[in-house]
Amino acid sequence: MGSASSEKAHAVCVPFPAQGHMNPMLKVAKLLHSHGFHITFVLTEFNHRRLVLSSGQEAVRGLPDFQFQTIPDGLPFSEEDATQDIPTLCDSTSMNCLPHFRRLIAELNEENNNDSRPPVSCIVSDGAMSFTLDAARELGIPEVLFWTTSACGYLAYNYYRHLIDRGLIPLKDIGNVSDGFLDAKVDWIPGLMKDMRLKDFPTFIRTVDANDIMLNFVVQEMSRASLASAIILNTFEDLEQSAIIALEKILPPIYSIGPLTLLNRNEISNESPTATITASLWKKDDFCLEWLNSHHDPCSIVYINFGSITVMTNEQLLEFAWGLANSGYHFLWVIRPDLVKGESSVLPLEFIEETKERGLMVSWCAQEEVLMHPTVSVFLTHSGWNSTIESISFGVPMICWPFFAEQQTNCRYSCVEWGVGLEIDNNVKRKEVEELIREMMTGEQKGKEIRNKAMEWKESAIKAIDPDGASLINFERMINEVLRN
Ligand code: UDX
Repeated sequence: MGSASSEKAHAVCVPFPAQGHMNPMLKVAKLLHSHGFHITFVLTEFNHRRLVLSSGQEAVRGLPDFQFQTIPDGLPFSEEDATQDIPTLCDSTSMNCLPHFRRLIAELNEENNNDSRPPVSCIVSDGAMSFTLDAARELGIPEVLFWTTSACGYLAYNYYRHLIDRGLIPLKDIGNVSDGFLDAKVDWIPGLMKDMRLKDFPTFIRTVDANDIMLNFVVQEMSRASLASAIILNTFEDLEQSAIIALEKILPPIYSIGPLTLLNRNEISNESPTATITASLWKKDDFCLEWLNSHHDPCSIVYINFGSITVMTNEQLLEFAWGLANSGYHFLWVIRPDLVKGESSVLPLEFIEETKERGLMVSWCAQEEVLMHPTVSVFLTHSGWNSTIESISFGVPMICWPFFAEQQTNCRYSCVEWGVGLEIDNNVKRKEVEELIREMMTGEQKGKEIRNKAMEWKESAIKAIDPDGASLINFERMINEVLRN
């Protein structure tokens, strides 16, 4: 069913149910709303409950023309404040969600709905929720897939079969993979930087094991992307031009509309009715912003945050802790309650004592506000794509410790192609943490170059979302050429 031209367009937005996917999808939904769309934002029942717990009922109340709806994720109920197991969640959403989604769309389209809801006219779905494509096809409406990764990470995934054909995958079957092998250059993929090493490819495609859930999931979702009306990416053309051009050759039309963090700030004013809607699955600690405000030296604070999914051992946590302590700098460290595998994080009393005057540890923060704070100088990150593009947007250089998915690719690009980061060895050691922080804060050569580069990319990101910037133009083209077509 398409919408009559006199009716308001109605977009159903379906994020994958994890924080790093919900945040950018909410931004897209708000932008569409500000361009006159009626919005239905689809949450899993699990995340709906978590949002209410972390941000209160208000967070999901919505507006007459911006409504939240839920579907089950197909998993048994589990602890409410824990990150769900990602492979299990991928498997379950792709197997179980379609009938629930169909039912929801049918309800939204009921003739006699007693509010002023227009019929569903398009779907904007996460690339990892491709079951929605079936519903769009049945209704004869356009569907845009939103891949929340970088363009380079997305392109790297697309070359899985070629890596197998060349005998470079599987990595796991090689036994004790020597560093030399992992360091081998892969310089033949059109659109990818020539300095890619095998270990910089996304972790999910390191195997050919037919039972590997993430591999099967990624390969399936990659292949279904070709069925979409178009694909949107949270990146900008100056940053990832070669990868975007290469993707355009193998996929439906691509619209690069990032950085969404900046586009939202420009387009959605504080007075906008959607300004207060958030999708934060953890309760944000407001004190950390006050704490930052109480500091006066610009670029004096190290910010550490590993996103919503990364886990580490307590030994790794300790290496980071002592690296930070020994660097002597002030720091804001976000330690999620489930950051340490299988146990709660335990930091020694000596560390707490030694850093109590200059360190603040909280369990979740308003990351974008932190990154744009003038006192924040460097971001120690897991290189999740949202964190990376947010950091680039606010000109904050990064120290990168990638965990999984395409974070390895994001890290390589940040450090080599864009020149805004330094990589920490996977086997993290306190000495290296300390040295990299020092280099980034005050280094007169490498550190300075990186700090300057970060400012240049910030300018370029701001240009992309200007009234005549490529990302804003692409966003409006995507609406006119695809969603309203
Ligand atoms: C994951 C993958 O890391 C990423 O590579 C993939 O592309 C999307 O899903 P996640 O690991 O959570 O996401 O990292 P990231 O992509 O950086 O997303 C985290 C989001 O949560 C960011 O938007 C960040 O601003 C926000 N956040 C994080 C907070 O608001 N507060 C916090 O304390 C931590």
